[in-house]
Amino acid sequence: MEICYLIGSFGFIIGLKLMGQPDSARKGNLVAAFGMGLAVFGTLFLDKTGFAVIPNFGYIISAILLGTVVGTLMAKRVQMTAMPEMVSIFNGMGGLAAALISIIEWQEIAHHPEIEMPLGHYIPIIAGLIIGTISFVGSIIAWGKLNGKIGDFRFAGQQYINAFILLVIIVAAYFNFTHIADGGSMWFYITMGVAIIYGLLFVFPIGGADMPVVISLLNSFTGVAAACGGFLYSNNVMLMGGVLVGSAGTILTVVMCKAMNRSLMNVLIGMAGSNSSGSGAAVSGSAREVQATDVAIMMKYASKVIIVPGYGLAVAQAQHVCHELETILAEEGIDVKYAIHPVAGRMPGHMNVLLAESNVEYDKLIEMEHINSEFPTTDVVLVVGANDVVNPAAKTDPTSPIYGMPILDVDQAKQIVVLKRSMKSGYAGIENALFFDPKCGMLFGDAKDSLQKLVNEVKSL
Ligand code: TAP
Repeated sequence: MEICYLIGSFGFIIGLKLMGQPDSARKGNLVAAFGMGLAVFGTLFLDKTGFAVIPNFGYIISAILLGTVVGTLMAKRVQMTAMPEMVSIFNGMGGLAAALISIIEWQEIAHHPEIEMPLGHYIPIIAGLIIGTISFVGSIIAWGKLNGKIGDFRFAGQQYINAFILLVIIVAAYFNFTHIADGGSMWFYITMGVAIIYGLLFVFPIGGADMPVVISLLNSFTGVAAACGGFLYSNNVMLMGGVLVGSAGTILTVVMCKAMNRSLMNVLIGMAGSNSSGSGAAVSGSAREVQATDVAIMMKYASKVIIVPGYGLAVAQAQHVCHELETILAEEGIDVKYAIHPVAGRMPGHMNVLLAESNVEYDKLIEMEHINSEFPTTDVVLVVGANDVVNPAAKTDPTSPIYGMPILDVDQAKQIVVLKRSMKSGYAGIENALFFDPKCGMLFGDAKDSLQKLVNEVKSL
């Protein structure tokens, strides 16, 4: 069994490494899944006690089969644009599983108050309960917010209340420990109840464009909660898996906090993006509509074009025709690159994955910090279904919910063309002054149709 755990752990590490690059990510996923499969196989069939004596064996197999069917159907049916919602749900299930482990283990303790409980055994149980509960509740709220079923909710001084609730959780957990010998579970369930309240209040106020940071933080919570289970059962593969998810999630959270210019502390007490309750200053002026023919001429005579992909590119599934346009322009001798904002789309790496799917070369995908200096020397910027990530309010309007978030400086280019269907706002729900910039033209329509028109027009010139 330990050999299965060892190979399984290697599978996780190699899988994670492979997931670091879009071209090997699929293989990485399979390798990590193989590692997990092997670990489960080892636990069920190669345990010293033998599978025949594992109680509830039938239930375990039924649950595995049910989970496999439901998970496969969900993953097959989900739209690429709804992937973050599914990640949230799956993450929440991990948190719930960790919390349930703690509840089951606690039943044993509560039934035998006479047995002395070492602190080292208590900490993983209570930490698994607290972190798993917060992760489960927070992920469900995040799921609701991502699909628009739940709105923002915040009140004055909420950050202090949230910090206070965190303190109450720790105190309740301590009282629970000191009252073990009395029997009963009152403090245990109080701890859990307060963790539920914290999970709600921590994610409810997150607004503006800050959901990605919270989702990645919740992901790391689930990893830590699973690692607690690993400690509890001295199960090395569970510990390793939990630590990997926890640390990868924490690194991603820190990277995203930097990308969004948010402090980790503000995210932890649920105040990221809620520094402003307004929706930014009103934008005046009128937007200029352009036609595909004009844009095609503009691009044909440009020497440098930058394409800025955003969530709308994913919605329209326009990645293939986008790559076709890029190829045609490159054949004309035009320098074409993609500008990738770290939170463009709805999940980390969304644009990279999308463009990799249509075989765009990786060296054409340039990260924000490297491409920003290139906009002043760019003739045409084509913004395809992106909005918040190019909104100058992030730099100019302190009342904007996205103020402080680094953006792609497309307003520095000589000409800007935005491909979207209407003047509607993006994820953060705020107006975009870029659309009213005299240098900016709006090419209205579904991104795939508009890009196809551009391809046809450029070809016919
Ligand atoms: P958004 O600001 O959400 O803007 C997308 C734009 O695409 C919308 O304004 C929409 O305008 C347009 N659009 C939608 N469907 C389209 C279609 N079929 N054809 C053409 N245009 C279409 O996207 P963004 O600039 O990529 O920014 C991402 C936002 O999501 C950020 O605020 C970010 O914080 C947030 N977020 C990111 C993540 C991660 S991890 N990346 C996770 C959750 C949230 P129309 O309706 O007018 O067409």
